[in-house]
Amino acid sequence: MQIDVILGLQWGDEGKGKIVDYLAEQYDIVARFQGGPNAGHTLKFDGKKFVLHTVPSGIFRPQLINLIGNGVVIDPITLEKELQLLKDSKVDYLGRLLVSRKAHLILPTHRLLDAASESHKGKGKIGSTLKGIGPTYMDKTGRNGLRVGDITQKGFLESYETLKSKHLELLKIYPEIAFDLEGEEKKWFQALEVLRSLKMVDSEYYLHEAIQSGKRVLAEGAQGSMLDIDFGTYPFVTSSNTITAGVCTGLGVAPQRIGRVIGITKAYCTRVGSGPFPTELENETGELLRSEGQEFGATTGRPRRCGWIDLPQLRYTILLNGVTEICMTKIDILNTFAEVGAATAYRYDGMESTQLPYDLCQTELEPVFKYFKGWQSSLDDARTMDDLPQEALDFIKAMENYLGVPFSMISTGPEREKLIIV
Ligand code: GDP
Ligand code: IMO
Ligand code: MG
Repeated sequence: MQIDVILGLQWGDEGKGKIVDYLAEQYDIVARFQGGPNAGHTLKFDGKKFVLHTVPSGIFRPQLINLIGNGVVIDPITLEKELQLLKDSKVDYLGRLLVSRKAHLILPTHRLLDAASESHKGKGKIGSTLKGIGPTYMDKTGRNGLRVGDITQKGFLESYETLKSKHLELLKIYPEIAFDLEGEEKKWFQALEVLRSLKMVDSEYYLHEAIQSGKRVLAEGAQGSMLDIDFGTYPFVTSSNTITAGVCTGLGVAPQRIGRVIGITKAYCTRVGSGPFPTELENETGELLRSEGQEFGATTGRPRRCGWIDLPQLRYTILLNGVTEICMTKIDILNTFAEVGAATAYRYDGMESTQLPYDLCQTELEPVFKYFKGWQSSLDDARTMDDLPQEALDFIKAMENYLGVPFSMISTGPEREKLIIV
């Protein structure tokens, strides 16, 4: 068997949670491979809404195994809160939620460092979610980190204290931040008990055996490809590999095991936090996209920046990920627009190009837009492609032709059932 992948092709919040939740019933295991509680994946079904941060989006499908892979960074405090919400909703997750022993732990001082570092950057701040993601991955690559498996080892407390002391030293170079460290530490150690109650696995062995025995596995990405640490709009990125390659390192599966790669894009584009965004519309149209699309962060509540879909940007992330099919979400948000734009090229350095320049931060870049006639009608009753208005079909066809990858799903609303399978 192969392992299929769902990931975001833009700057996050493409609707990954909804699509994973929908497709999950076709799988035996859903696994998160990178990121941490900076993610906010929204699921809506049976009149209920859930936002998941660390727990994979297959958790509401009974019987399904959900795995938090080694590439993920875990904050026990957020995880405990998330699990409490699941408990309150009578979701039986014990025994079905597995955690890789090699996943790294976010300490309270990682969050403090995140806040201090952002504050120090002033105007140049990344716009981090302040969940401690960057500092935790720094300790991972710096070979100082604490891992989930360590909490069962002798000397864990000592290792914790050593790392904490290092953080406190480091904090001296930053401005002081109001933070109840003692209180947060208390919560953290209590939350470790909840983490301890979960089944710990060596995800590389676990998944290898699962795949060998014919189990179907779906890998769930977090963030988006344009936030990838290597290929995103550096330095305005997250600290992990959000692209397909991250599945191999974040779960311990070999590249030839990768099967379908389902790339998700909104019918327009958003970004939360700082950094370049070529098609951003800082005008009424952008505001309309924000209000129609309810574009406010699922993790931080911050307003998301909005603009038209960026086709050269999507071509870039399609090639990085080896996307085999595309799911377009939130097309319903365009219902009221008289015309709908899409960037087809960029003008910079006196030329027109479909390639992103090396440094988007330093390059004066102007997108070349093409406009399509809007459909100005509701898509609420659309269940098949035939139910879509001609203008919407024309828009989708034009996107598909430009990108050269088949569109396999069109999402027309936040609810689980609002999905057209092409
Ligand atoms: P994720 O991080 O990629 O899982 O996406 P988020 O949950 O952060 O943001 C996507 C938002 O759009 C959520 O509020 C979803 O409920 C909502 N959503 C997903 N698909 C659709 C869709 O097709 N139409 C509409 N109107 N909303 C959608
Ligand atoms: P999901 O999985 C959108 C952004 C932050 C910031 C940058 C770095 O819900 O799509 P970090 O906290 O990682 O240090 O922040 O990345 N960011 C996201 N934007 N969706 C996300 O996740 C994001 N996770 C991080 O806003 O600009
Ligand atoms: Mg999100």
